[in-house]
Amino acid sequence: MDNRPIGIFDSGLGGLTVVKELNKRLANESIVYFGDTARIPYGTRSKDIVNKYSEQCVRFLLEKDIKVVIVACNTASSTSLARLNALFDIPIIGVIEPGAQAAVKATKNKRVGVIGTAGTIASGAYPQAIRAIDPEIRVYDQACSLFVPIVEEGWSDSQVAQLTAQTYLEDIREKQIDTLVLGCTHYPLLSSTIAKVLGPDVSLINPGEGTALRLIDLLEEKDMKREAKDPATISFYVSDVGENFQRIGSHFLNRQIDAEKIDIESY
Ligand code: DGL
Repeated sequence: MDNRPIGIFDSGLGGLTVVKELNKRLANESIVYFGDTARIPYGTRSKDIVNKYSEQCVRFLLEKDIKVVIVACNTASSTSLARLNALFDIPIIGVIEPGAQAAVKATKNKRVGVIGTAGTIASGAYPQAIRAIDPEIRVYDQACSLFVPIVEEGWSDSQVAQLTAQTYLEDIREKQIDTLVLGCTHYPLLSSTIAKVLGPDVSLINPGEGTALRLIDLLEEKDMKREAKDPATISFYVSDVGENFQRIGSHFLNRQIDAEKIDIESY
């Protein structure tokens, strides 16, 4: 038993898609969430900067006496996970491996698409992880840089989102994929728009789901589940107070979010 909270970080509000998956399956676990809203996006930044930012995020979370870290950000997971695991003496889980595993399980024709930020796609982390499990799978990837600002603007179900998705996904659709990894925290919020573009025969993979399952396994394996009788709590921290985080986040999680601002540069 371990009643300490789970630490989660992302470059902004997108990681709340992972929080939602954890809430569905691990409702008795407390969470400390950090969204690096002052320094989003991570997806267009260099490896060195993403490494530095990710390290600072973990240092902040460690101050909150957490028992495990989830790197909800796909960009940070693809760039920095191995480094973070080498630096810190606490279990740290990323979203790439669980997402890759779910895609391998879902595909029948062994043709998988992956979409993500420029950083995630350039890292090649998803194709690598998918082929490590099944080398016969063909992976087609595409950076979709405009999706993040569209979600942050609250336009996930708009015509702008639909047209942008059509443009980005045209090539991938022609490859006759039957599975698409939504390899960015924000993309699950575009699921219905993407599903309209790709049609019902393409399974959409939210890596947050597999990550929640991975966490369950880890907590069971290490006997670290929370067993306190009092209700679990979620605390939110951000590096800049913005209206979007509270508004879109509260709407998405269906609960009032009051985030406290911290100075991430001091970590
Ligand atoms: N959280 C990032 C990711 O999942 C998307 C936003 C950003 O570029 O920082 O890759």
